[in-house]
Amino acid sequence: MTGPLLQVQGLDKRYGGLHVTRNVSLSLAAGDRVALIGPNGAGKTTLVHQISGVVAPGAGRILLCGQDVTALPQAERVRMGLARTFQITTLAPTLPVQHQVAMALFERENLAHRAWRSLDDYPVLAQEAQALLSQLGLQAQAAWPAERLAYGEQRLVEIALALALRPQVLLLDEPMAGVPQSDGHKLLAALDALPASLAVLIIEHDMDLVFRYARRIIVLAEGAVLAEGTPEHIRAHPQVRAAYLGHS
Ligand SMILES: Nc1ncnc2c1ncn2[C@@H]1O[C@H](COP(=O)(O)OP(=O)(O)O)[C@@H](O)[C@H]1O
Ligand SMILES: [Mg+2]
Repeated sequence: MTGPLLQVQGLDKRYGGLHVTRNVSLSLAAGDRVALIGPNGAGKTTLVHQISGVVAPGAGRILLCGQDVTALPQAERVRMGLARTFQITTLAPTLPVQHQVAMALFERENLAHRAWRSLDDYPVLAQEAQALLSQLGLQAQAAWPAERLAYGEQRLVEIALALALRPQVLLLDEPMAGVPQSDGHKLLAALDALPASLAVLIIEHDMDLVFRYARRIIVLAEGAVLAEGTPEHIRAHPQVRAAYLGHS
């Protein structure tokens, strides 16, 4: 295997007097399944915003496949293999989900400038859109407007949109947020079905999911990395237990 796909080095960010990212370094390699956990306000989303290019860091570097992308815009990072989903849903409510996936495919293939014609003109992309939705268990809902899908299913569509970009690194910000417990298994199945070589960083509060899915866990507290290691290591970490996990 070659070097890490994503490297974050000494990232630092302040909002006025609030120090939200404190000298954070982390690294993701192909096939990684990493959970980023920490209490509300720990700075998890802000960290992902900086990695994806939504927010500029105050200091530090972000490297994708060894290349410094700290100053590059979001779209450029996407083209280099970085995709993310958002904590809050970003789907267009009235547009059929297969069209939304197709639009992401058009974007990837640089066909977006041809505006919206018909997927019928692009049978290979139409098939790929179907395959992505099927992979996430959504083949029956492909023609539905997003608003008709259950919230948990909408979150799966967002993962489909991210996967449409054929990323090497996928950042998931609380994909379970707002999803009823009863639909949790669908998300877990979708996560299990992700390409093996993909590097996945998932922010998640559901500790059952975190400990079932992640092979490495990074704990963020007050903007800084408090601990990092295997699930066993994190479970046994006294400071983590005290600060975050309670007495589970
Ligand atoms: N644009 C912003 N301006 C000022 N403060 C912000 C901004 N974005 C986030 N914060 C603050 O930064 C801290 C970390 O927020 P966030 O990254 O959303 O945490 P988490 O995702 O871990 O819950 C919070 O105190 C939040 O209020
Ligand atoms: Mg957040």
